[in-house]
Amino acid sequence: MADLRVGIAGLGTVGGGVLKLLDGNAELLGQRCGRKLVVSAVSARDHAKNRGVDLKSATWHANAATLAADPKVDVVVELIGGSDGAAKKLCEAAIAAGKHVVTANKALLAVHGAKLAAAAESKGVVLAFEAAVAGGIPIVKALREGLAANRVKRVYGILNGTCNYILTTMRESKREFADVLAEAQKLGYAELDPAMDVDGVDAAHKLALLAALAFGAEVDFKGVYVEGIRHVSAQDIDFAATLGYRIKLIGQARLTDNGLEQRVTPTMVPLDSPIAHTEGVFNAVVVEGDFVGTTLFQGRGAGAGPTASAVVADLIDIARGRSAAAFSVPAKDLKKYPAAPMSRHRGAYYIRLMVKDRPGVIADVTAALRDQRVSLESMLQRARSPEEAVPVVLVTHETEEAAMTRALATIAKLDTVTEPPRMIRIEQPEG
Ligand code: NAP
Ligand code: HSE
Repeated sequence: MADLRVGIAGLGTVGGGVLKLLDGNAELLGQRCGRKLVVSAVSARDHAKNRGVDLKSATWHANAATLAADPKVDVVVELIGGSDGAAKKLCEAAIAAGKHVVTANKALLAVHGAKLAAAAESKGVVLAFEAAVAGGIPIVKALREGLAANRVKRVYGILNGTCNYILTTMRESKREFADVLAEAQKLGYAELDPAMDVDGVDAAHKLALLAALAFGAEVDFKGVYVEGIRHVSAQDIDFAATLGYRIKLIGQARLTDNGLEQRVTPTMVPLDSPIAHTEGVFNAVVVEGDFVGTTLFQGRGAGAGPTASAVVADLIDIARGRSAAAFSVPAKDLKKYPAAPMSRHRGAYYIRLMVKDRPGVIADVTAALRDQRVSLESMLQRARSPEEAVPVVLVTHETEEAAMTRALATIAKLDTVTEPPRMIRIEQPEG
């Protein structure tokens, strides 16, 4: 069979990894695909930069968009990044030119995924993005193919390695967020501008894609409720352990009576759940299906090797002539669910208050909870100090978030409460 000619735009961490994989495993890939995968064209900003492999036989495109029109390219691999600009132009041009597109760009797909999927379908080309969600974990293929027989009840997971590394290190070293972030930046584990990661945006991009795949829905990034990890303290991580939980940044999507709930929030997960033990830069995704039950996928969510593994898996599918609708069902059949408001979310809550240690304080706090019909499961006060504020931790039974929010607004106004209350959602595994 004729070679599959691949044009790669973006030769950085992921692009460089893809070049090395295609070069290092060329023979194996040829056997598995029944044809060779050949890099026929490339594009990046700096032509002079050494990419670690011989690119003499590949055509250089100074402008990434022209790669789409290159007659020697069958598949365009977009590894530039960003939700708009060069990446979007290239993908649109490639699809318009009737070329398959493989991308690792979750920001682009979270915002423009529905339109790109429809365009690809109308042109009869593949839009593949295994690397866009959880790096090396083959979760896109799992949802689109291996679990396709199931109605998904819930999909959730640890979708950002940087946040998981920070939370793991905070717990292990009992240090605060800012300190651990600064160290992670020095070590190169976190970006100098960490906002996309620590504010939960990167995880929200990935969650929007998972939700679309799991529920046959149009990607709705704007419908994702997002909280990052900046406000998680070493003290909360410690209390979580005492209560039998670990704090993780969890992205979760499920269909509710109020619509599609998509949220990325610091969440307490039970210590005896496998996801609690996904540590450091690792990612994990749990899919609960009606027939399969609970499945867990774990692995490296970023880095040159794992991400290249996912990009090349998409190329292998294309080389073998295998294809599926980008988001599991044809673009015209994707549903537009309303976004379920967080005020209607039901769950248990961890609340930490800093209070003056005086008689009657707890009575005032519990009165505010009683007035909103929020029921307490347990309470914890560790220290005793007549002068300084002391932490009081409350764990509620399942309640509606709107009631919790109203109770906390009242509690925050009490004279004896010295800091804004901290609230972290508690998640239970299936059951
Ligand atoms: P990166 O290291 O910053 O590489 C970006 C590449 O794009 C560079 O080679 C750069 O050229 C090139 N580039 C920038 N602007 C361009 C333009 N206008 N035209 C052509 N090329 C241009 O980024 P990355 O980490 O590899 O990420 C690439 C994509 O993969 C992103 O969408 C990212 O979200 C996604 N992703 C990354 C990871 C990861 O672990 N890094 C994991 C999963 C998904 P120069 O090299 O010449 O500067
Ligand atoms: N910055 C992401 C993470 C990797 O920390 O998981 C790219 O998706």
